[in-house]
Amino acid sequence: MLDLLVTHATLPDGRSDVSIAVQDGRITEVTEGLQAPAHETVDAGGLLVSPPFVDAHFHMDSTLSYGQPRVNQSGTLLEGIALWGELKPQLTHDAIVQRALTYCDWAVAHGLLAIRSHVDTSDPSLLPVQALLDVKQRVAPYLDLQLVAFPQDGVLRSPGGLDNLTRALDLGVDVVGGIPHFERTMAQGAESVKILCELAARRGKRVDMHCDESDDPLSRHVETLAHETHRLGLHGRVAGSHLTSMHSMDNYYVSKLIPLMAEAQLGVVANPLINITLQGRHDTYPKRRGMTRVPELMAAGLTVAFGHDCVMDPWYGGGSADMLEAAHMGLHVAQMTSQAAMLQCFDAVTVNPARLLGLEGYGLQAGCHADFVLLHARNPVEAIRLRATRLAVYRRGRKVASSPAPVAMLDLPGRPGNVAFLAG
Ligand code: FE2
Repeated sequence: MLDLLVTHATLPDGRSDVSIAVQDGRITEVTEGLQAPAHETVDAGGLLVSPPFVDAHFHMDSTLSYGQPRVNQSGTLLEGIALWGELKPQLTHDAIVQRALTYCDWAVAHGLLAIRSHVDTSDPSLLPVQALLDVKQRVAPYLDLQLVAFPQDGVLRSPGGLDNLTRALDLGVDVVGGIPHFERTMAQGAESVKILCELAARRGKRVDMHCDESDDPLSRHVETLAHETHRLGLHGRVAGSHLTSMHSMDNYYVSKLIPLMAEAQLGVVANPLINITLQGRHDTYPKRRGMTRVPELMAAGLTVAFGHDCVMDPWYGGGSADMLEAAHMGLHVAQMTSQAAMLQCFDAVTVNPARLLGLEGYGLQAGCHADFVLLHARNPVEAIRLRATRLAVYRRGRKVASSPAPVAMLDLPGRPGNVAFLAG
């Protein structure tokens, strides 16, 4: 007897009337029309069953701190960094843990079961690192938390920056981070990329750097990141986050850059909610959108994910742990409204970030972990349109969250919907 059988599911690839069989926390079979005895049977009723959402870029040490010690008056990136600097001396281990655990609850409720979070390593106490390592252990039964050692104040610019980051890795942080555009000069930024990639190569770590997060069309750190990745043989293990400068770069230069990035199999993380609000702030009109060139990078074969980046913190007062919100914004900002591109936006918050994180057993195939989400939508495009309700969230074959079906209808245009009473 199976532990769990989900019937009449529609999958993101368009297959319908699919059954998903689960035993011992793993998917054993994904077959059209399968019926078999199970301890629990869930009829999906033709609705979408997706692998869980994955966030490739988040800051869990600062999340839910909005208003502490004050709100960001200008709403800009630089005031956000300054504000984080004001908050840091007031941080406590317990406060970070409690905020992070609350956020992880929100995440699970939204079917978000894997998060790569940057953690600030700038302070020699490594207080945020210790707190998030604690959180990582506590949430492990229901959420994969991958941590990136992130030198917010610059690994070369701040005294002891490299030493602090290295000690964070010693404590068990998974990924090497960086922030080359915040170093003092372009040359020091490039030097930081080289040092950090070499550190990752020596330790067998993945890399994920905040890179070129500005509107400067001449920022060149992603070029250095691609070069170091290629030189050190780190292909497929390195991601560049934000890359907002690419929005403003010269088109000829980008025509050379993207093939270099593809050669290095660089991962890319755009953060649509944050990029659209923080970039272009020095513009009059027209104001740049500031998001990197997502469709062009995808067309070149790069793995591109949409991250949430911030939720109610010094940089951004919005957000809700809903990756469909990030996909919805990404679709609009990048004008990804073709049928194929809208499906790519769904991939950008599911399979693509899972690949960047190197998640084992992710997906809806036999042998994968029985982690999936039943959505109140019939396909990925509708899921993005509605930011669809997560009717049920499963982790290792066990239901970890559920929500009642909303009033919002799934009717096609031209059909009577549940607002028909308004006409009467
Ligand atoms: Fe970030």
